[in-house]
Amino acid sequence: MKFSAKMKVSASKSATFAKPQTVGGKCKEPMNSVDMKYKKANLVDWPKSLDIKSINDQFGSPAWIISEKQLIYNVNAYSKFTEDNGRIFYPVKTNPSITVLQVLAKLGVGADCASQLEINLALLAGIKSQNISYNTPVQDIKICKSLLLLGGNVVMDDVKAIIELQNSLTNISFTGKLFLRLNLPEYIGYAKQNENQELMAHGHKSSKFGIPVEDLDNHLKLITIPISGLHVHVGTQMDNMKSFEHAIISLNNLADNLRTSGHIITDINLGGGLGIPFESSQDFPSLETWCYNMTSYKKEDLNYSVEPGHALIGNAITLLTTIQTIKESRGKKWAIIDVGTDQLTKITLLKWPHRILDQSGHELEVGNDAVAGPLCFAGDVLKENINAGGLKRGDPLLITEAGAYTFSLSNKFNGRTAPKWLLLNANNDLFETMEKESIYDELHHSKYDWISSDDSVSSQAIDLKLIKNISSKYLFKTCEADSFEYVEVTYESQYHYRFTVLTNSIVDFISMPFAIRIFGDASIISILHSKGIQEKINPVWGRKLNMDFYEQLPSNRKFEFTILLSNPIEKETQCVIVARFKSSCKRCSGSIIISYEK
Ligand SMILES: Cc1ncc(COP(=O)(O)O)c(C=O)c1O
Repeated sequence: MKFSAKMKVSASKSATFAKPQTVGGKCKEPMNSVDMKYKKANLVDWPKSLDIKSINDQFGSPAWIISEKQLIYNVNAYSKFTEDNGRIFYPVKTNPSITVLQVLAKLGVGADCASQLEINLALLAGIKSQNISYNTPVQDIKICKSLLLLGGNVVMDDVKAIIELQNSLTNISFTGKLFLRLNLPEYIGYAKQNENQELMAHGHKSSKFGIPVEDLDNHLKLITIPISGLHVHVGTQMDNMKSFEHAIISLNNLADNLRTSGHIITDINLGGGLGIPFESSQDFPSLETWCYNMTSYKKEDLNYSVEPGHALIGNAITLLTTIQTIKESRGKKWAIIDVGTDQLTKITLLKWPHRILDQSGHELEVGNDAVAGPLCFAGDVLKENINAGGLKRGDPLLITEAGAYTFSLSNKFNGRTAPKWLLLNANNDLFETMEKESIYDELHHSKYDWISSDDSVSSQAIDLKLIKNISSKYLFKTCEADSFEYVEVTYESQYHYRFTVLTNSIVDFISMPFAIRIFGDASIISILHSKGIQEKINPVWGRKLNMDFYEQLPSNRKFEFTILLSNPIEKETQCVIVARFKSSCKRCSGSIIISYEK
C-alpha cells in the first residue's frame, strides 16, 4: 500500500548497514561461519546517518522515525530460522503503530495479538488471519473459536478455557492451529543479573504463564481437541543463548512425547525474548547468532515460529525530539526536551539506558548535566551524566533504539499526546504517515457525555418559534440544494483513489453535511470499485465518522481529494473497512468506518 502524505525530504546522508540488505525477500548469504557461534549484537548506525536538523526543520518534533530497511533486515534474519515470514508473529503489544504493521504486512510477517483490538489492527494493516496468533494470559473463547475457524493460531495455557473451547467446537472442524503454552520445569534464566529481570522473566517457574510440564499428562486426559503446536516464551531481554537452546530442545522432545497421546505436533513456537543492546557495554547474542545456533536444533518434521518484539522492532525506530529550554540549577544544566515519561516510561521509570544523539549524530558527551522530559514529575529524567555545554534551545536530538514498549506504554500525563509517525522507506524517502494525535480525537472516539454545568436548572420547554428563529436556514432547508459531481476519478494504486469534485452550494464554503455526502459517496465508490462490483445493489452502512476542517474549503469550484482504504476486517456476514479521506489542499481530512454485507 502506498502511504498518503506527499511530504518528502532527503532524510539520510547515506544510510549504510553492516550487512547487505535485501528488500522483501530472504537474505542470501550463508551463515555457517564459525563467527556465528557467538557474535555480539551491535548498536545500529542508521540513526547516526540521518540529517537530523533538516528532518526537524521539515517535520517538527516530537516524531517517531521508522527505518524500513532496518525492519526488513531484522525480518530477513529471522526468516532464515523460520523459513517463512508468516511464521514470524510480531507481538503487536511491542508497538501497535499502524505504519509498523503495514510495513510488516507487506513483508508477509504475521502478528501475535493479545486482544480483539490488536487482531483488528493487524487485519486492517493487511496481515492475513492465517498469520495471526492469539496469545494472552486470559483467553477469550469467542476470539479463540473465530480465529481457529479462520485458519489462525491460538496459544492457550488455561486448561479450563481449553475444555470450554473444545465443548464449543464439538463436531465443528477448523483449519487453524491450537498451541499449548508451557512452563518448563527447569528455568535457565539470564546470563547477567539486572535489576528489572523479575519483571521480564515470563518463562520463570513461578510466573503466571504456561502450563507446568509436570501437569501435562493429567491435563491431556481431558483434552480431546487436537493440539498442533507447543509454545514457550523464555522472557524479555534474554541475554543467554542457553535459555533458548534449552527451550527448543525441551519442546522438540515434548512434541515427540505428545504423539503417543494422539496429538500430532507440527509446530513449535519459541516466543520472543532475544534482547538487544541499548548501550555498547551491553552483551546480547546477535540475531544472526541466535538464528544460526537455533537452526542446528531444528527437526525436519516440525515448523518453527517466533514472536520477537525487542529484536524485531527495538532498533528500527528512533524518536526525534527538540530541546525546549536549558535550565541551570546549582551548577547543573538541565536540557528539557519535548517528550519524557509520556512516551518513554520504560526509560524513566525502569531506568532503561538509551543513547541520545545530538544533531550531528554524535552521542552526548559525558558530564554532570542531564536530559529531562517536560513533565511535572521528578522522575521524568531521560539521561543523567551528560555534558549539556554545547547544547542550546531548539537543538534537535535523537533517542535511539526506541521501538519496543515505548509508544505502546505511552500515556497522556500533563496533556501530552502521541507524536506523529515518519517512515524512512527503503529508498531513503521520508514520509509522514500519521499526524500527531489531537486531544479532540479522544473526545471523538470515546462516548463522552458532557456533564451539565448547572444541575439546579429544571427542565423547561422552549418555544418552537424561537427554535425556528435561531436555527440555521441552510441546514434546515437550503443545503438540500447543494450538489456535486465527480469530474475525474483515478485508481492510483491498490486501495488508493483520487477524486476531483465540482461543487455547487448556496453557501461559499463546503459545509459539514455537504462534506459527508461528498467524502461518504467517494468512500463507497472506492470500496465497491476495489471489490470489482459493477453496480451498487446492497446497502453500505457508515458506522463512524471523524472529520477535521482546519480551514474553510471554498465551494462552487473544483477540489481534489484522496481516499485511502484499509484492508477489510472480515466478519461472518459483514466486512468492515476504514476509508481515510484528505483534501489535497490539506484543509479537510477524516475517516469513515463503513460496513457492508459480504
Ligand atoms: C508471549 C510473548 N511473546 C513475545 C513477547 C515479546 O517479547 P520480546 O519483546 O522480549 O521479544 C512477549 C513479551 O512480553 C510475550 O509475552
